[in-house]
Amino acid sequence: MKYKTEQEDFWAGEFGVEYSKRNSREVTVAPNIRLFSRIFERTQGITSLIEFGSNIGSNLTAIRSLLPRVDLAAIEINEFAREELAKIEACQVYAESILSYSSEKKYDMTLVKGVLIHINPDELQSVYRKLYDSSRRYICIAEYYNPRPVEVVYRGHERRLFKRDFAGEIMDRFDDLALIDYGFIYHRDPVFPQDDLTWFLLEKQDRKSKA
Ligand SMILES: C[S@@+](CC[C@H](N)C(=O)[O-])C[C@H]1O[C@@H](n2cnc3c(N)ncnc32)[C@H](O)[C@@H]1O
Repeated sequence: MKYKTEQEDFWAGEFGVEYSKRNSREVTVAPNIRLFSRIFERTQGITSLIEFGSNIGSNLTAIRSLLPRVDLAAIEINEFAREELAKIEACQVYAESILSYSSEKKYDMTLVKGVLIHINPDELQSVYRKLYDSSRRYICIAEYYNPRPVEVVYRGHERRLFKRDFAGEIMDRFDDLALIDYGFIYHRDPVFPQDDLTWFLLEKQDRKSKA
Protein backbone atom coordinates (compact mmCIF):
# COMPACT_ATOMS: atom_id res chain seq x y z
CA MET A 1 0.00 0.00 0.00
CA LYS A 2 1.32 3.43 -0.94
CA TYR A 3 0.65 6.07 1.69
CA LYS A 4 1.00 9.82 1.48
CA THR A 5 3.22 10.28 4.55
CA GLU A 6 6.13 8.47 6.22
CA GLN A 7 4.13 8.49 9.48
CA GLU A 8 1.40 6.34 7.89
CA ASP A 9 4.00 3.82 6.62
CA PHE A 10 5.38 3.66 10.16
CA TRP A 11 2.03 2.79 11.76
CA ALA A 12 0.87 0.45 8.98
CA GLY A 13 4.12 -1.53 9.28
CA GLU A 14 6.04 -3.51 11.88
CA PHE A 15 6.11 -0.76 14.50
CA GLY A 16 2.30 -0.74 14.51
CA VAL A 17 2.18 -4.53 14.87
CA GLU A 18 4.57 -4.51 17.84
CA TYR A 19 2.64 -1.63 19.44
CA SER A 20 -0.61 -3.59 19.08
CA LYS A 21 0.94 -6.67 20.71
CA ARG A 22 2.26 -4.63 23.66
CA ASN A 23 -1.09 -3.06 24.49
CA SER A 24 -3.42 -5.84 25.56
CA ARG A 25 -7.03 -4.96 26.26
CA GLU A 26 -6.84 -6.76 29.62
CA VAL A 27 -4.58 -4.02 30.97
CA THR A 28 -5.96 -0.98 29.17
CA VAL A 29 -9.73 -1.35 29.35
CA ALA A 30 -10.22 -0.57 33.08
CA PRO A 31 -8.42 2.82 32.97
CA ASN A 32 -10.45 3.61 29.86
CA ILE A 33 -13.73 2.79 31.60
CA ARG A 34 -12.77 5.27 34.29
CA LEU A 35 -11.76 7.91 31.73
CA PHE A 36 -14.82 7.59 29.51
CA SER A 37 -17.27 7.44 32.41
CA ARG A 38 -15.96 10.87 33.40
CA ILE A 39 -16.30 12.15 29.84
CA PHE A 40 -19.71 10.65 29.10
CA GLU A 41 -21.28 12.03 32.25
CA ARG A 42 -20.96 15.43 30.54
CA THR A 43 -22.79 14.23 27.40
CA GLN A 44 -26.35 13.34 26.42
CA GLY A 45 -27.90 10.91 23.99
CA ILE A 46 -24.82 9.36 22.37
CA THR A 47 -26.00 6.49 20.14
CA SER A 48 -23.11 6.38 17.65
CA LEU A 49 -19.38 7.02 17.83
CA ILE A 50 -16.39 6.74 15.50
CA GLU A 51 -12.80 6.52 16.69
CA PHE A 52 -10.01 7.73 14.42
CA GLY A 53 -7.01 5.39 14.91
CA SER A 54 -8.49 2.88 17.33
CA ASN A 55 -5.69 0.28 17.38
CA ILE A 56 -7.02 -2.99 18.90
CA GLY A 57 -10.11 -1.28 20.34
CA SER A 58 -9.27 -0.65 24.01
CA ASN A 59 -11.26 2.58 24.01
CA LEU A 60 -14.16 1.10 22.05
CA THR A 61 -14.39 -1.91 24.36
CA ALA A 62 -14.57 0.39 27.38
CA ILE A 63 -17.14 2.58 25.65
CA ARG A 64 -19.28 -0.42 24.73
CA SER A 65 -19.36 -1.51 28.38
CA LEU A 66 -20.56 1.97 29.40
CA LEU A 67 -23.02 2.44 26.51
CA PRO A 68 -24.06 -1.10 25.49
CA ARG A 69 -26.33 -0.02 22.65
CA VAL A 70 -23.98 2.47 20.99
CA ASP A 71 -23.14 1.92 17.29
CA LEU A 72 -19.37 1.89 16.95
CA ALA A 73 -17.02 2.56 14.05
CA ALA A 74 -13.25 2.70 13.75
CA ILE A 75 -10.68 3.88 11.24
CA GLU A 76 -7.44 1.92 11.60
CA ILE A 77 -4.42 1.72 9.31
CA ASN A 78 -2.73 -1.34 10.83
CA GLU A 79 -3.95 -4.74 9.64
CA PHE A 80 -2.88 -6.67 12.75
CA ALA A 81 -4.79 -4.22 14.96
CA ARG A 82 -7.84 -4.55 12.71
CA GLU A 83 -7.94 -8.32 13.27
CA GLU A 84 -8.51 -7.60 16.97
CA LEU A 85 -11.03 -4.85 16.18
CA ALA A 86 -13.04 -7.32 14.13
CA LYS A 87 -13.78 -9.22 17.35
CA ILE A 88 -15.79 -6.30 18.75
CA GLU A 89 -19.46 -6.84 18.02
CA ALA A 90 -21.34 -4.29 15.90
CA CYS A 91 -18.27 -2.23 15.12
CA GLN A 92 -17.79 -1.04 11.55
CA VAL A 93 -14.11 -1.01 10.68
CA TYR A 94 -12.69 1.25 7.97
CA ALA A 95 -9.47 -0.43 6.81
CA GLU A 96 -7.60 2.64 5.68
CA SER A 97 -5.73 5.73 6.70
CA ILE A 98 -7.52 8.67 8.28
CA LEU A 99 -5.92 10.71 5.49
CA SER A 100 -7.79 8.76 2.79
CA TYR A 101 -11.02 8.31 4.82
CA SER A 102 -13.93 10.03 3.14
CA SER A 103 -17.55 9.55 4.16
CA GLU A 104 -20.69 11.62 4.51
CA LYS A 105 -21.72 9.58 7.54
CA LYS A 106 -22.13 11.43 10.83
CA TYR A 107 -21.79 10.11 14.37
CA ASP A 108 -22.91 11.62 17.67
CA MET A 109 -19.29 11.69 18.76
CA THR A 110 -15.95 11.57 16.97
CA LEU A 111 -13.07 10.39 19.16
CA VAL A 112 -9.33 10.63 18.68
CA LYS A 113 -6.90 9.55 21.39
CA GLY A 114 -3.13 9.34 21.06
CA VAL A 115 -3.28 9.65 17.27
CA LEU A 116 -3.12 13.34 16.27
CA ILE A 117 0.36 13.35 17.84
CA HIS A 118 1.43 10.84 15.19
CA ILE A 119 -0.09 12.57 12.15
CA ASN A 120 2.20 14.51 9.82
CA PRO A 121 1.67 18.13 10.96
CA ASP A 122 1.08 19.21 7.32
CA GLU A 123 -2.03 16.99 7.29
CA LEU A 124 -3.56 18.12 10.56
CA GLN A 125 -5.96 20.67 9.10
CA SER A 126 -7.51 18.02 6.88
CA VAL A 127 -7.88 15.65 9.86
CA TYR A 128 -9.48 18.43 11.94
CA ARG A 129 -11.99 18.92 9.10
CA LYS A 130 -12.84 15.17 9.09
CA LEU A 131 -13.25 15.07 12.88
CA TYR A 132 -15.58 18.06 12.62
CA ASP A 133 -17.58 16.94 9.57
CA SER A 134 -18.05 13.39 10.89
CA SER A 135 -19.51 14.67 14.16
CA ARG A 136 -23.18 15.42 14.65
CA ARG A 137 -22.58 16.81 18.13
CA TYR A 138 -19.45 15.99 20.16
CA ILE A 139 -15.72 15.77 19.47
CA CYS A 140 -13.48 14.13 22.08
CA ILE A 141 -9.73 14.67 21.83
CA ALA A 142 -7.18 13.05 24.19
CA GLU A 143 -3.60 13.77 23.20
CA TYR A 144 -0.23 14.94 24.55
CA TYR A 145 -0.69 18.67 25.08
CA ASN A 146 1.87 21.42 24.58
CA PRO A 147 0.98 25.12 24.23
CA ARG A 148 3.25 25.43 21.17
CA PRO A 149 3.95 22.77 18.52
CA VAL A 150 7.00 20.67 19.43
CA GLU A 151 8.52 17.46 18.17
CA VAL A 152 9.61 14.73 20.60
CA VAL A 153 11.75 11.69 19.74
CA TYR A 154 9.42 8.68 20.01
CA ARG A 155 11.02 5.40 21.09
CA GLY A 156 14.19 6.44 19.25
CA HIS A 157 12.37 7.57 16.10
CA GLU A 158 12.43 11.11 14.74
CA ARG A 159 9.43 12.80 13.05
CA ARG A 160 6.99 10.39 14.66
CA LEU A 161 5.58 12.36 17.61
CA PHE A 162 4.40 15.98 17.66
CA LYS A 163 2.73 17.67 20.64
CA ARG A 164 0.61 20.81 20.44
CA ASP A 165 -2.73 22.33 21.49
CA PHE A 166 -4.84 20.23 19.13
CA ALA A 167 -8.18 21.06 20.79
CA GLY A 168 -7.41 24.78 20.86
CA GLU A 169 -6.58 24.71 17.15
CA ILE A 170 -9.85 22.94 16.32
CA MET A 171 -11.83 25.46 18.36
CA ASP A 172 -10.04 28.33 16.59
CA ARG A 173 -10.95 26.85 13.22
CA PHE A 174 -14.62 25.98 13.89
CA ASP A 175 -16.19 28.71 15.94
CA ASP A 176 -19.40 26.86 16.84
CA LEU A 177 -17.39 24.44 19.01
CA ALA A 178 -17.71 24.97 22.75
CA LEU A 179 -15.45 23.47 25.38
CA ILE A 180 -17.68 21.37 27.67
CA ASP A 181 -14.97 19.86 29.89
CA TYR A 182 -11.31 18.85 29.97
CA GLY A 183 -8.97 16.94 32.22
CA PHE A 184 -5.66 15.16 32.66
CA ILE A 185 -4.82 11.52 33.18
CA TYR A 186 -1.55 10.69 34.87
CA HIS A 187 0.85 7.79 34.39
CA ARG A 188 1.39 7.70 38.18
CA ASP A 189 -2.29 7.29 38.99
CA PRO A 190 -2.16 4.61 41.72
CA VAL A 191 -5.19 2.68 40.44
CA PHE A 192 -5.87 3.59 36.79
CA PRO A 193 -2.59 4.75 35.20
CA GLN A 194 -2.46 5.73 31.52
CA ASP A 195 -0.09 7.82 29.43
CA ASP A 196 -0.08 11.51 30.40
CA LEU A 197 -2.97 12.56 28.21
CA THR A 198 -4.99 15.75 28.33
CA TRP A 199 -8.59 15.25 27.19
CA PHE A 200 -11.07 17.77 25.83
CA LEU A 201 -14.79 17.38 25.23
CA LEU A 202 -16.12 19.78 22.57
CA GLU A 203 -19.70 20.27 21.44
CA LYS A 204 -21.21 21.86 18.34
CA GLN A 205 -23.41 24.58 19.79
CA ASP A 206 -25.49 25.63 16.76
CA ARG A 207 -26.01 22.22 15.24
CA LYS A 208 -29.75 22.84 14.66
CA SER A 209 -29.10 25.74 12.31
CA LYS A 210 -26.46 23.72 10.42
CA ALA A 211 -28.43 20.45 10.20
C1 LIG B 1 -0.74 5.36 19.85
S1 LIG B 1 -1.96 4.37 19.10
C2 LIG B 1 -3.45 4.88 19.95
C3 LIG B 1 -4.52 3.85 19.84
C4 LIG B 1 -5.85 4.17 20.50
N1 LIG B 1 -6.46 5.37 19.99
C5 LIG B 1 -5.72 4.26 22.00
O1 LIG B 1 -6.01 5.30 22.58
O2 LIG B 1 -5.33 3.23 22.60
C6 LIG B 1 -2.13 5.09 17.48
C7 LIG B 1 -3.08 4.28 16.59
O3 LIG B 1 -3.46 5.07 15.47
C8 LIG B 1 -3.25 4.32 14.29
N2 LIG B 1 -2.92 5.28 13.24
C9 LIG B 1 -1.84 6.10 13.15
N3 LIG B 1 -1.90 6.86 12.05
C10 LIG B 1 -3.04 6.53 11.42
C11 LIG B 1 -3.66 6.95 10.22
N4 LIG B 1 -3.11 7.90 9.45
N5 LIG B 1 -4.84 6.40 9.87
C12 LIG B 1 -5.42 5.44 10.64
N6 LIG B 1 -4.88 4.97 11.78
C13 LIG B 1 -3.70 5.52 12.17
C14 LIG B 1 -2.12 3.39 14.61
O4 LIG B 1 -2.07 2.28 13.75
C15 LIG B 1 -2.45 3.02 16.06
O5 LIG B 1 -3.34 1.95 16.11
